Amino acid sequence: MKKKLTFLGIETSCDETAAAVIRENENGSAEILSNVISSQIKEHEKFGGVVPELAARAHLENIEFIINKAIVNSKVSLEKIDGVAATAGPGLIVCLTVGLNIAKSIAAFSNKPFIAVNHLEGHALSPGLANEIEFPYLLLLISGGHTQYLIVKDIDNYEQLGTTIDDALGEAFDKTAKMLDLGYPGGPALEKFAKLGDKNYFKLPQPIINKAGCNLSFAGLKTAVLREVKKINGNDRLKYNLAASFQDTINKILFKKTKIAIKEFKRKTNTKKTKLVVAGGVAANQSIRKNLVTLSNEIQFEVIFPEQIFCGDNAAMIAWAGIKRYKKNLIDDMNVKSRSRWPLDKNAPYMKGPGLKL
Ligand code: KG4
Ligand code: ZN
Repeated sequence: MKKKLTFLGIETSCDETAAAVIRENENGSAEILSNVISSQIKEHEKFGGVVPELAARAHLENIEFIINKAIVNSKVSLEKIDGVAATAGPGLIVCLTVGLNIAKSIAAFSNKPFIAVNHLEGHALSPGLANEIEFPYLLLLISGGHTQYLIVKDIDNYEQLGTTIDDALGEAFDKTAKMLDLGYPGGPALEKFAKLGDKNYFKLPQPIINKAGCNLSFAGLKTAVLREVKKINGNDRLKYNLAASFQDTINKILFKKTKIAIKEFKRKTNTKKTKLVVAGGVAANQSIRKNLVTLSNEIQFEVIFPEQIFCGDNAAMIAWAGIKRYKKNLIDDMNVKSRSRWPLDKNAPYMKGPGLKL
């Protein structure tokens, strides 16, 4: 096998059309030869959320340009690329299919191996772009569609310790921002306005905080925010206070649940020095980062965040997961289909819906 692999990655699972060319470094990290991301904020802004058909159309319109730009920026010709990786799920099928199909065509046309990447594995491995991280580590994955604690044992080998039983954390941020009319996309807007408010003003609930191990729940918190929103009548000061109180409540929940997850990780893996990787779009939030750093100082573990640009959806992490999978001989054929649901731990219990016992 060649020493330094170079991969093209393509990502279209939601509302970012992205392509990147990544090369392995000798020290186990990655050289980012190009990283092109086109966000569809304008398309979805007036709806306050992602509209699947509009997202798919925007992917179709942009994808060729974005891939071409990634290849040109990388200064590597397609012949010199060792493989093509694309997100195959989880996500919106109409969106995934755009990136997956074009990636398959490029791979077939140029006679390169093709790797179908789980978007969540992309996030899970994303801090490795900057520095090699030894397995096992604990992953807190916080994105728009997922919120989970997982043991990352190896590439393609995950054990779920906990998950949200209702909304994902990014979704809770987005919905709260929408209720407070803070702008779109909601997560970053909420973080910005929370800085202007008093976090102790509103007392909000922390659902299932004292039960269900490191499983999480945010639906009750969202409902409580909605109740308060109705009372504050658009008063800006109170709006900012509510944003700050919401974010502070999230921090309290993550503080407690991460403590439990760390304990479970230690018990299950017998590792002395615990590493916690925090990844996904919400990992960009500075207040959440600070909160988890405080916890890491209190109970002694190492906390690792991806660089800010690799927290949200990007294709660098997909190319990187592609390289890692290729090196394990996890190569896909052209029949692979996009999947809306694709858990990293295939044995994890499904934790949603009626009849759930905690
Ligand atoms: O990983 P990601 O880009 O897409 C998914 O895989 O879902 O995550 C997107 C989510 C959105 O819900 C977005 O509002 C949230 O991450 N997000 C944030 C921040 N930046 C992005 N949430 C809180 N604070 C932020 N600064
Ligand atoms: Zn994502």
